[in-house]
Amino acid sequence: MKFGHFDDVNKEYVITAPDTPLPWINYLGNEDFFTILSNTCGGYSFYRDARLRRLTRYRYNNCPLDSEGFHIYIKDGNIIWNPGWQPVKTPLDSYCCRHGLGYSVISGEKNGLSAKQEFLVPMGNNCLLMRVTCENKSCISKRFSLFPYLEFCLWDALDDSSNFQRNYSTGEVEVSGNAIYHKTEYRERRNHYAVFWANRDPAGFDTSRDSFIGTYGSPAVPDAVISGCCKNSVAHGWQPIAAQQFDITLGPGEAYSLIFGLGYIENSDDDKWEEPGIINKAQARRMISEYDSDEAFSRAFNDLRDYWERLLSNYRISSSVEKLDRMVNIWNQYQCMVTFNMSRSASYFESGMGRGMGFRDSCQDLFGFVHMIPERARERILDIASTQLPDGSAYHQYQPLTKKGNLAVGSGFNDDPLWLIAGTDAYLRETGDWSILNESVDFDNDASLAQPLIEHLRRSFSFTASHLGPHGLPLIGRADWNDCLNLNCFSEHPGESFQITGANEGPVAESVFIAGMFVKYGKAWVDILRHMKLDSEAAEAEAAVLSMEKTVLEHGWDGEWFRRAYDAFGHVVGGRECDEGQIFLEPQGMCVMAGIGKDSGEAEKALESVQKYLDTKYGVVLLTPAYTRYRLELGEISSYPPGYKENAGIFCHNNPWITCAETVLGHGNRAFETYSRICPSYTEDISDIHRTEPYVYSQMIAGKDAAGFGEAKNSWLTGTAAWTFLSISQAILGIKPTLDGLLIDPCIPADCKGYSVSRRYRGAVYNITVKNPASVEYGIKEIRLNGDICHGNLLPVLPPGETVDVQVIMGA
Ligand code: GLC
Ligand code: GLC
Repeated sequence: MKFGHFDDVNKEYVITAPDTPLPWINYLGNEDFFTILSNTCGGYSFYRDARLRRLTRYRYNNCPLDSEGFHIYIKDGNIIWNPGWQPVKTPLDSYCCRHGLGYSVISGEKNGLSAKQEFLVPMGNNCLLMRVTCENKSCISKRFSLFPYLEFCLWDALDDSSNFQRNYSTGEVEVSGNAIYHKTEYRERRNHYAVFWANRDPAGFDTSRDSFIGTYGSPAVPDAVISGCCKNSVAHGWQPIAAQQFDITLGPGEAYSLIFGLGYIENSDDDKWEEPGIINKAQARRMISEYDSDEAFSRAFNDLRDYWERLLSNYRISSSVEKLDRMVNIWNQYQCMVTFNMSRSASYFESGMGRGMGFRDSCQDLFGFVHMIPERARERILDIASTQLPDGSAYHQYQPLTKKGNLAVGSGFNDDPLWLIAGTDAYLRETGDWSILNESVDFDNDASLAQPLIEHLRRSFSFTASHLGPHGLPLIGRADWNDCLNLNCFSEHPGESFQITGANEGPVAESVFIAGMFVKYGKAWVDILRHMKLDSEAAEAEAAVLSMEKTVLEHGWDGEWFRRAYDAFGHVVGGRECDEGQIFLEPQGMCVMAGIGKDSGEAEKALESVQKYLDTKYGVVLLTPAYTRYRLELGEISSYPPGYKENAGIFCHNNPWITCAETVLGHGNRAFETYSRICPSYTEDISDIHRTEPYVYSQMIAGKDAAGFGEAKNSWLTGTAAWTFLSISQAILGIKPTLDGLLIDPCIPADCKGYSVSRRYRGAVYNITVKNPASVEYGIKEIRLNGDICHGNLLPVLPPGETVDVQVIMGA
């Protein structure tokens, strides 16, 4: 069942019922100011950091669900309604939400009156804009009142939801003209305030929630709206809000628009006040006047559209498959940009108060956005690398505001270092900007320890190479990619971390997955070294990689699949002899992507086992059989009920590893099958089962052992975005950036007749047409570059600005 449809021309998802199975959100903002907005106008805004600079309140776990946000109320006679349906939930005569790229338009109609809310965060300014347009579609004149309403957060979202003894006394506002200023703590340690404004004069306002809603009221029945009259309240402590009242009369056919804004302003310390006790509003006034007309609003809209057109134009496919085109051209790339901006911080599943930027997460996210914004990818790599520790290990997370490693979480996740090689390699292949390797980068944010970036990669590689366990496989440390497989930490008491400390932390537990990574990204490291003409170092590194390949086949191979790990007692995890957790997805994907066992048959067999044991109709599960009891020696993985999260859920992040692995073996049919099974546009029809947004990936879909098999959770902020984009754009469609140019290497379903891709690469445009007359899954017969036969399938790097025509014929 669907709750809307894709509009590919406008690059929007159109939601036609407000009561979607879960709130379906969008992200507005691309630089410093962000807003999360649901299809019923729920959500919140923040500046840079969702915890420390939260502008408006949001209550996770709330009931009714998703009731705070950017609502407007319309009181038309005795009827009160919201264009977005929530929070009053008056049944609407019509409703529509269009989530587009960086904007959303939500409209409703009731009794001949329509109201449309258009939301966007303009480029280059720290504010959310909302234009409201009302139209009288009836044949009689209408007099009604309109009330916008939002609730301020007292900046630090965590403190705001816990420190009530202080916060109930600190809230402060100023009201001036059409604007309401939220200035809690501005007097002392803050130099920033928020401002809510309208471009017209209100008939009244409220800034105290008790006045507007009523002490025992609710957003569904606000006192002021019911009585039809704001009380011009000024908040002192308690709950500061911004609400206004506009009384509007419209003749038949007449329309009326209002522009509202929510801005974030910082003043320098010596320029904070206009008069004693009165905040300096000069910047706010400038911001307000910039968007005071419909023309100005439309200009901001157009700038935003142009921005997104540019971003998405670097990779554009045209095939005859609409579901594929819309994911590749629009939604998958869009989600990659959102994960770049948010990492794993703020969504409807991530509270914005917990995690910082993950070291490994951010490195993997690079795969999905480096082709869109290489300069910001460069900056991101340098930021991440400067949190690396001198021995090559890494802080697991860092804070975006300070860019410092997070001490509380610490290091010891032994896959982290290798992801830095993976991310930097992706950047080099995309840009050819070798200068990045010479950039001087701190270790542990200590300038006295700075070294060129290449030294960071070297230490990443040698950290893994020098931390091997009894079987010669890499030590797992606190955990590898699978945060919940905690082999060294025996967590016995409530509240104890699964990962951070453990009596048993020891030198024994090993990871076959990291071994696979070492081979895959170790090969990339060897290529980088060769390119730098560091031949003897390259030869040494290559020897270490080859020896690891052997070790994996010797100690990591179980007969039908790759094992997952060895635990702290040296017992196999993910092997035939295990009663549960016999086979895991991760090592099958990573080892085959690395090419381990490709020539000797193990790779082929491993992927057959994935299909045989791990496949379901909704995607590939992480392991089987699921763990049914808690196992101290395995940790958090066995704490989840069977079928959820890392305990045999369909963890979408690593489904594309299987897709990529299948293409390593030339299996185009199977690669596309694993791609499409979890692909949002392909699963749109089961939105009622899936429940999360049908235009983006979720982290997890409940696996076959779960009561809610097929139900997705944790949408938006997941490494799935980057990995699926990589799997479709490079592994399947076969347009692969390499250190020396674009490699054409498709691996597609046999019944695919062909497609074209326009790819901007290092400034030149490659218009590539692939034809598959012989219905093969893999292999190229001929490539022509501007009509001339091309030897091999590596396209040369062209001068920036040039456009070439590339004709590819697949076949034997
Ligand atoms: C989450 C984490 C990621 C981890 C994965 C598997 O997505 O963000 O770092 O690799 O879970 O546990
Ligand atoms: C929890 C989650 C896991 C995530 C980790 C991040 O363990 O279940 O998915 O990777 O937190 O630290």
